[in-house]
Amino acid sequence: MLDGIKHIFFVGIKGVAMANLAVFLKKAGKIVTGSDIDEEFITDRLLKKNKINWSKDFSLKNLPKEIDLIVYSAANKGLQNSQLIEGKKRGYKLISQAELLGLIMKEFELRIAISGCHGKTTTSSLLAYTLNKLGAYPSYIVGVPFFTDYQGGDFQKGKYFVVEADEYGINPPYDLTPKFHKLDPDYIICTNIDFDHPDVYKNLNETKQAFLKFFDNKKLFLDIDNKNIKEIYHKLNKKNVTTYGFSLNAEFQIINPIIDSEGSSFEISGIGKFKISLYGKMNVSNAASVIVVLHKMGYKSKEIQKAISQFKGSERRFEQKYQESDTYLFDDYAHHPTEIEATIEAARERFKGRRILVIFQPHTFSRTKFLLKEFSETLSKADYTFLLPIFSSSRENRGDFKITTDDIINISSKKNLLRFHNVFELLSKLQKVLKKGDIIFTMGAGSVYKLKDVIARIIKHGKWNIKEEVDLYHYLTLRTHVIAEYFIDAETREDIVSAKKFSIEKKLPIFLFGGGSNVAITRKKIYGLVIKNSYIKKTVVAETNEYVDINVSSGYPVSLLINKTIDRGLSGFEYHKGLPGTVGGAVAMNSKWTRPITYFSDNLIYAYLVDNKGRVKKVTRKYFKFAYDYSILKDTREFVLEAVFRMKKEDPEVLKKRAEVALNYRKQTQPHGISSSGCFFKNISIEEKLKLDVPTTSAGYLIDKAGMKGYTVGDFYVSKLHANFIINKGQGKREELLKIISDIKERVKLKFGIELEEEVVVV
Ligand code: EPU
Repeated sequence: MLDGIKHIFFVGIKGVAMANLAVFLKKAGKIVTGSDIDEEFITDRLLKKNKINWSKDFSLKNLPKEIDLIVYSAANKGLQNSQLIEGKKRGYKLISQAELLGLIMKEFELRIAISGCHGKTTTSSLLAYTLNKLGAYPSYIVGVPFFTDYQGGDFQKGKYFVVEADEYGINPPYDLTPKFHKLDPDYIICTNIDFDHPDVYKNLNETKQAFLKFFDNKKLFLDIDNKNIKEIYHKLNKKNVTTYGFSLNAEFQIINPIIDSEGSSFEISGIGKFKISLYGKMNVSNAASVIVVLHKMGYKSKEIQKAISQFKGSERRFEQKYQESDTYLFDDYAHHPTEIEATIEAARERFKGRRILVIFQPHTFSRTKFLLKEFSETLSKADYTFLLPIFSSSRENRGDFKITTDDIINISSKKNLLRFHNVFELLSKLQKVLKKGDIIFTMGAGSVYKLKDVIARIIKHGKWNIKEEVDLYHYLTLRTHVIAEYFIDAETREDIVSAKKFSIEKKLPIFLFGGGSNVAITRKKIYGLVIKNSYIKKTVVAETNEYVDINVSSGYPVSLLINKTIDRGLSGFEYHKGLPGTVGGAVAMNSKWTRPITYFSDNLIYAYLVDNKGRVKKVTRKYFKFAYDYSILKDTREFVLEAVFRMKKEDPEVLKKRAEVALNYRKQTQPHGISSSGCFFKNISIEEKLKLDVPTTSAGYLIDKAGMKGYTVGDFYVSKLHANFIINKGQGKREELLKIISDIKERVKLKFGIELEEEVVVV
C-alpha cells in the first residue's frame, strides 16, 4: 500500500476522519505523525492509544525534515496552512484526506461506502462492527473515534473495505468538490439525501446532483422512504438498485417494528427477524441497510442476527453519559433538524411518557440561518430546549450572517425554547427545572458535550454548587469582606476540573483558594469564578516495610493531615505542626519550617494537576522546581488536584516529640487563634542579610526593628509577638489593609533600604 511512502504527516490530525485515517495507516505499517492546535479534542484518546504523536501547533519548526506525504483537510485553513505552504516549497507531496482515502481503498477487493446526510456514522460503524463479528476482518474508516468495542479506523487482513462517504467539500470555500467524489466504491448505501452544508451546496437540487454523480454505475442500496431519494430514483439504472425501507414499494420492506426500552425488533421481508440495541425508526432503517447489504454478500440471516445484536452505538450518538436511578444523561451529535427530530423521537419511543430536556448548541451560522424554521420546529418537540450561543466554524465569518440563537426562539410560537447567554445561566436554570426521571441530552456538533460532568453532578446532587455574589468573609482567615462574582465550593476532583473548564470556555478569570490562610484580598469584588477548595480525600497508594505512599487531595486541611500521619507513625510533616491551610496551598507555596529547615513538599513524589486548558496531568516532583517560597505553580497558575507523598515509617512517639518542640516554638513566637494570614512578607535573601549586617533573614525582624510592632491602621495591627503577622481585630476594611501593607513596606525601606515582597497572595 502506498509504495515508496514511509512517513506520512497529517496537518490537523485531530479531525475525526484524519485521526481514523492516521490510525489505519499506522496499522498498515507507515510512520505517522502530525500537527494540530493545543486543545482537547475527542480524538486525543484515539491517537494516544495508537501511540501517534502530534505537535501542538502549526509552526514550521515542528514540520519534520523527512516526510514522504503531507495530508490536509478542510480544517485549519486547508492548503493555506503555513505547514502546507512550507511543505510545498520543500517539494513534499501534498494530498487531501479525501483523495488519500480514495487511493487506499483501491487496494481492497470489495469496497462499501455508506453515504447519506444523516445516520452514515451509525450505519458505517454498524457494518464494520457486524463484519468484525462475522469474522470477515474488514478494514474501515468511519466518522467517530470509537464505536462499540472498536476504534474508528482499522487495517485488517480481510478483503472488504468499509468507508463513511462524506458529502462535505474538500476545502471550502476554495475547493467545493464533494469529498465522496474522490471515492470509488463497489457498493453504496445511501441512508437519505437532505439539504445541509449551505457553505458547499447552494440548494437541495445541487446536493441531489452531487449524490447522483457519486452513484453513477455503482451498486446501490437506497432508503426508499426518503423523499429526496425517491425523487431521483427514476434517473437511476434500476438493475443497479436495491431498495429498503418501511414503504410498501421497498424491495426489502421493514415490517412490525417494535421499539421499547430494550432496543428495537423488526422483520425484513424475505430475509428474517432481527433485534438491535438501538432506538428509533431511523436506526431501524440504518440497521436494515446493513442487513440487506450483508444478505446480498451472501451471509445467512441467522449469522447476521447474532452478529448485529450487540452493537451499542457510536460515540456521541445517543450515547449514555450518566444515569442516576431513572434520570439519564445522553450526548448526541445531532446538528441538523432531521437528526434532532430523529433523536427526540427515538428518546420518546424508548422512554415513554418521560420529559425530554435538550441542551442544544447550534453549529455554524450558515446552517442556523438556512434551516432556521426547521430548527425552531424540531427543537420545540422536546419538553424543554435550552439553547446556547452558536458554535462557529473557523471557516465562516459570523459578521456575514447576522444571526443568533435568539432568531430560533423568535420565530417559534412555543414557550419551551429558552435561550442562555452562558453556561452559568443555563446550569442555574437546569438545577431548578430538573426532575427525577427526566431524560437530558447535550446535543450539537460543537463543544456542548463537555458539559457532561457538571450535568451529572446536578443530576446526582440536585445542584452543582455554583452561587453568585458570595461574600468570602468567613472563608478568609484575615476576615475581610469581598464579593465573588461566581463562587463554587468544590468538593470533588471533578468539581475543580469542570470549574476550570468553565472558566476557560467562558473566558472568566479564575481564583482558587484552600484554607484562605495565605491570601489577602484587598479588592471589593472578584470578577470571575472563585473556587473554595473543599476536596478532602486521602488514600494509601503503596506500602512497604519502610514507607507508605499517600495520595492526599489538595483541599485536605494540613493540620488534620499532620495529626493523622503522626498517629500512624509516618514521618515527614511533624515539624509543620501548627501550619494553617490546605495541602494544595502548602505544595504550591512550598510552605516551610526553619528549625530545622524542612519544606512541606520534601516528601512529594508526584502530583496530579489541572492545567490552564482544563486538562488533568500527572507530574513528578522535578516539575515543581521547589525553592524558598516558590514552586512553578506560582508562575503557571495550575491547580493541584492531588499530591502523593512518600512517608518514612518511624516511631510515633519520636514524631510527637518533634511536633511538640516545633509547635511550642511557634506558640511562643507567633500569634495564634486570631485572624491573620500567617507571615505576610517573604524573608530576605542571605546576600541581603550579609549586606545589611543583620543577625537573621527574618522579615519579622526587620519590621520589628523598623519600630512597627503594634502599629495600627483601623482594625488592622502588626502583631506584638511576631512583626511579620498582620492581624485583623474584626472589622478591618480593605483600605486599612492596603494602608498598613504600604506603611510597613515604606518604613522598612526607609530604615533598611529593602523592598519587602509579599509572601501571601494579594488579590
Ligand atoms: N524576630 C524578631 N522580631 C520579630 C520576629 C522575629 O526579632 O517580630 C527574630 C527572632 O527573634 C529570631 C529571628 O527573627 O531571632 C527569626 O524568627 P523566626 O524563627 O520566627 O522565623 P522567621 O524567619 O521570622 C520563618 C517563616 C515562618 C516560619 C518560621 C519558623 C518566613 C517569611 N517566615 O519566620 O513562616 O513559621 O520561620 O520556621 O519565611 C509563614 O510562612 O506563614 C510563616 C510564618
